[in-house]
Amino acid sequence: MDKKVQKIMFFLGKGGVGKSTTSSLYAVEKSLTGEKVLLASMDPAHNLGDIFEMEMSGKPKALSKTLSVAEINLDYWVNHYLDDMQKQMTKSYSYLTALSLDKHFGIVRYSPGIEEYALLRAFTYFLNKYTQFDRIIFDMPPTGLTLKFLSLPKLSQIWLEKLVDLRNDIIDKKEIVTKIKFGNIELQRDKLLNKLNNQLNEYTDARKVLENQDRTQLVLVMNQDKLSLAESKLIVEKLKFAELKIRKVFINKFKAEIPVEELEKIFSEYEIRHYPLKDESITGLTNLEVYLKENGFLD
Ligand SMILES: Nc1ncnc2c1ncn2[C@@H]1O[C@H](COP(=O)(O)OP(=O)(O)OP(=O)(O)O)[C@@H](O)[C@H]1O
Ligand SMILES: [Mg+2]
Repeated sequence: MDKKVQKIMFFLGKGGVGKSTTSSLYAVEKSLTGEKVLLASMDPAHNLGDIFEMEMSGKPKALSKTLSVAEINLDYWVNHYLDDMQKQMTKSYSYLTALSLDKHFGIVRYSPGIEEYALLRAFTYFLNKYTQFDRIIFDMPPTGLTLKFLSLPKLSQIWLEKLVDLRNDIIDKKEIVTKIKFGNIELQRDKLLNKLNNQLNEYTDARKVLENQDRTQLVLVMNQDKLSLAESKLIVEKLKFAELKIRKVFINKFKAEIPVEELEKIFSEYEIRHYPLKDESITGLTNLEVYLKENGFLD
């Protein structure tokens, strides 16, 4: 029997537009239709715990038969990534231990670019580990980090392809390969090339998942105001590099600075939804359900 492919969604948009609120509402909505949903926050400043009014952790917590929620611990995944790198380097370049690798890794921890690698690891881990869910919804961090994360597989792929070419050139010129004979077949082996190719495969796989529109959907959340419109346009533009496309636009709540018709025209190629403003924050599973019912999302 064919198992249905697991759906993946990313909720992105300017800070404070309502990514966490609308992704929570969407997760509750889908879970009420019987889908098994995992909602996971990738934002280091988590607030799913506040929205569902209970403590969350890096492991999915079941709130009902069909809804689980997790807050991905970015620090944990940064450490995970660095430990791995350190192990690999110590193995490959044992002479470096004399140069106190530890100290250097202490610094790398704070260097830019580590967080998106860590998020990509967490992402891959979640997809492989939590296959029992029909849908995983990711509540994303601020735009800068989100765009870096979404572009990382393509960027790394470009990088690694160049490195592989370079390595092949070196191998050709210097004949540094160990040549092994198996009967008449001569196999070429080069440790570094193997490693590069393995990494290349990982990023290529991640890219395939992100670009697969039958599986992955990007949801752009915005408000009716100039700043969130400007950032939304920027997101659409920047995603072109990663060859990714927004699928849905959720217009959430307050600030009716820009007429809704105007936004509908600008984003007419996407599926649009409206999330009305409430007098107060929508928190607690019951209130999230009430909101969905009141606003016709469960019809
Ligand atoms: N439709 C709504 N009605 C009333 N309050 C809302 C609505 N949507 C969001 N809010 C409130 O607006 C604030 C920001 O929403 P939320 O935290 O969901 O945004 P966010 O995009 O996830 O923010 P951040 O970028 O900080 O993660 C919260 O206090 C939330 O309760
Ligand atoms: Mg949020």
